[in-house]
Amino acid sequence: MKEYGEVAEIKQDIVHITGLTNCMNGQIVQLQDTTHGIVVGFDQNYVLALVVKGSDRVKPGDKVTSTIEMFGVPVGPGFIGRRVNGMAEPIDNRGPIAAEKKYPVFGTAPGVLDRLPLREALETGVKIIDMMVPIGKGQRQLIIGDRVTGKTTLATDAILSQKGKNVVCIYCCIGKAEASLNKVIEILTESGAMEYSIVLAATASYSMGLQYLAPYVASSLGEYFMHEHGRDVFVVFDDLTKHAWIYRQMSLLLERSPGRDAYPGDIFYLHSQLVERAGKLNPQRGGGSMTFFPMIETLQGDVARYVPSNLVSMTDGQIYTSAPLFSEGFKPAIDLGLSVSRIGNKVQWPAMKELASMLRLEYVRFKELEKLTRIKAGISEEVERRLNHGRVVQEILKQDKGAPVPMVEQIIVLYALTKGHFFGMLPAKVDEWQKKLIIHIRKHRPQLMVDLTAGKVLTREIKEGLDEQLRLFKDSSI
Ligand SMILES: Nc1ncnc2c1ncn2[C@@H]1O[C@H](COP(=O)(O)OP(=O)(O)OP(=O)(O)O)[C@@H](O)[C@H]1O
Ligand SMILES: [Mg+2]
Repeated sequence: MKEYGEVAEIKQDIVHITGLTNCMNGQIVQLQDTTHGIVVGFDQNYVLALVVKGSDRVKPGDKVTSTIEMFGVPVGPGFIGRRVNGMAEPIDNRGPIAAEKKYPVFGTAPGVLDRLPLREALETGVKIIDMMVPIGKGQRQLIIGDRVTGKTTLATDAILSQKGKNVVCIYCCIGKAEASLNKVIEILTESGAMEYSIVLAATASYSMGLQYLAPYVASSLGEYFMHEHGRDVFVVFDDLTKHAWIYRQMSLLLERSPGRDAYPGDIFYLHSQLVERAGKLNPQRGGGSMTFFPMIETLQGDVARYVPSNLVSMTDGQIYTSAPLFSEGFKPAIDLGLSVSRIGNKVQWPAMKELASMLRLEYVRFKELEKLTRIKAGISEEVERRLNHGRVVQEILKQDKGAPVPMVEQIIVLYALTKGHFFGMLPAKVDEWQKKLIIHIRKHRPQLMVDLTAGKVLTREIKEGLDEQLRLFKDSSI
């Protein structure tokens, strides 16, 4: 069934259409031959639609065609390795992408009965996260922090870490500069991560409509792999602050009454409807999962602003990147005091759970002690020893960008730490020592790592094997 209408008025990207009597919210309308609009609202006389692209060509009197169906985008396995825009159209000059079917853009989230509790870890390769803020497959974990504090780097490291783990990664860029998108694409291409990733680009130079649609379309692409192939999907939204801004612009143009910070009243719904689409499906529904990393940029560390606090309340935890830590040189600059994962250590490998359970508390205590002793002279030997131990732990937690650390290696280093092998070491030596240790074990007993990866548990045999190798390694390095 088709309907015809007419453009009455156009204001920026918002067109007022007369004559369409049967259309529904979220539906797509065709303006001229090449331009699309999404229905975003109604008033007494008009249907209000947002032009997705090419709004400069639309003029009053133009014919509008509408087919009464929900707006869907093409999806299919061919999207992996490609770069697309907010309508899932290829933008990498590598020809069309074969679509298998269409998926609704504003799809509904899986119901409670279709879901399973989260049990499996998503290895991010970022030591602090895997050890102390573990993330499960199907979780929604907010990355929140000031600008230039390493937020995007956390996400790209997590994508790099999915190599060979059968996870489809989607990087969705919303309202960022072209240059920062190019940096991400370069990282993903150079490391071979594009082989299992999709980049959805809606940079600041794209139209309002494409930026508005980007996160929903990224979720639809992910849902295809989750529902049809039972795959694990990992989606990064970089970032939702810009998405909220776009929605605010749209709402102001639609003359909706502005609320707090000039955002419209339904700004909470905008994002909660999106993040609900993540989750882990039960085996009858294919057993796939979708993990979300939404990002939010804060101003001077203020997490209590409207949009940031909304997102904090609708996700399963947050990772807070701090500007002071970043400038101190503690990278990744994750503030453990403000970062949590509400799923907790249920998803951690048992081996990691055993070793890392006390680490967070110890580290937070060390940071307090460090603060206290900064002003006091003449501290005792015992305090000095604890401070040194804390500094060693701090060195272990540091990590360079673009170098995700596999879970097994993290476990081995933590095991050496709990067994006191780092005792009395100079903090400056830590990095080299742990790298050499891994090389040593890989050379002399690689089977230990294979067994640990397969079983995820520190059995007695593995512990004995590690003890022996640690002893040999120490002897050889003296
Ligand atoms: N662990 C790290 N080790 C070394 N350098 C890092 C690390 N993490 C981030 N950086 C560097 O810090 C800079 C900022 O990182 P990034 O772009 O990830 O931050 P951001 O918070 O996403 O910034 P923006 O606000 O621009 O989005 C980059 O140049 C990046 O290479
Ligand atoms: Mg960034």
